Amino acid sequence: MLFLGGKMRPIGFNIKNNSAYLHQYKLSEIAKEYQTPLYILDEIQLKKNFEDYQQYFKGKTFQSTIVYASKALLTPYICDLTKEYDFYMDSVSLGDLFVAKTSNFPMENIVLHGNNKSIEELEYALKNKVGYIVVDNLYELENLDYLVNQLKIASKILIRINPGIDAHTHKYIQTANHASKFGINIEDIKTIHQMIKIVKSSKYLNLCGFHSHIGSQIQQVEPFIAEIEKMSIFQNEIAKKYKLHLPLLNIGGGFGIKYTIEDQTLSIKEMMSLISHQIDKTLSKQKMINHIMIEPGRSIVGNAGITLYTCNQIKHTLNKNYLLIDGGMTDNIRPALYNAKYECDIVDKMNQKKEITVDIVGKACESGDIIRENVNIPNINHNDVLVVYATGAYNYSMASEYNNHLKPALIVIGDKIKVISRRENLEDLNRFFK
Ligand code: LLP
Repeated sequence: MLFLGGKMRPIGFNIKNNSAYLHQYKLSEIAKEYQTPLYILDEIQLKKNFEDYQQYFKGKTFQSTIVYASKALLTPYICDLTKEYDFYMDSVSLGDLFVAKTSNFPMENIVLHGNNKSIEELEYALKNKVGYIVVDNLYELENLDYLVNQLKIASKILIRINPGIDAHTHKYIQTANHASKFGINIEDIKTIHQMIKIVKSSKYLNLCGFHSHIGSQIQQVEPFIAEIEKMSIFQNEIAKKYKLHLPLLNIGGGFGIKYTIEDQTLSIKEMMSLISHQIDKTLSKQKMINHIMIEPGRSIVGNAGITLYTCNQIKHTLNKNYLLIDGGMTDNIRPALYNAKYECDIVDKMNQKKEITVDIVGKACESGDIIRENVNIPNINHNDVLVVYATGAYNYSMASEYNNHLKPALIVIGDKIKVISRRENLEDLNRFFK
């Protein structure tokens, strides 16, 4: 297959006479009208990402279910889109479940995750008949078993296994090395035995298979191939040993996106074609597993998103130049937390010479409040607008109110413009104190 790779800028991004546009909208004008910082989603890119998953995650040996991992970005608009494409949705908290339910998302298409689910969360999930609960540990399974008996509600479950696969990604987003807090280690035979015993004697719990998720922003296919092989062998062995029928395997999400010019990232089409091919190869060696779930989050929303900021000035210090912008770590924590790197441009100086090297820094009282270190940009005038690419995932959803900075609005641009989450206002800041 010819390697084309994923794209960093959304489909609708285009340049005319030195200025950046999203579809027909000039970004400097959008910035003025909607205020900055401003999160923007390209609706056409978003829909293409959903469609590419639908089209390329398919095989001869398995039924495919795509679960959108809503931790990447969750709003009622996103719930509607997920429903429109008939994807399942992964929720990880009472709050996530509440947003899904109040957005009229079908609860039977929810997969509930979480490494430390509360009784309240489990009860809410059971009463609202969520599709699957992914059980993280023995204690949680005991609680769940107690609850299903009390409530007399049946539940389909998966058990989360940590397969011990080392995916080369930032250590904070690795989830399947042997020291991870998530799931049961694949070598922990004793705990797995205790859990299967509970399931086998339960009247209401229906174990459908296992789940694993090996990390996030994984750019190569090899770790997923290793995961598919290892988990399918494991699942078949357990089924045989305990005389269980386990048709469903959930291999999690974690498919990477292109953030920087240097990133060599597979596109959804490339990654899903390779993965589907591998699943067919692996599953043809056995007969039991015939249903595969994946849980992409970042790769559905990430490259559909951009953020606009207004530049104030360049501050020249003895050692460095700082470009001061009106947002920062409160709307994008990823550089501070994971050393994440983003590309950016000045929207009305797209073809201008990049003659000055700066660190782009935010307004928060933290030296780590950096959006991009050491980047060349054109000379700046007060009120120039900066665009940062590939911010659709884990930016809005991880935003904070540190220093009482207001959470930016999130708008969607397609044929027209929709505000899907309004900008926070000063009164909102007082909502807890009244
Ligand atoms: N499934 C499970 C069980 C997960 O824990 C995650 C992500 C996903 C699916 C979706 O992974 P994705 O396809 O989005 O990579 N805040 C970090 C990422 C944390 C990911 C947590 N779990 C970041 O900004 O890079």
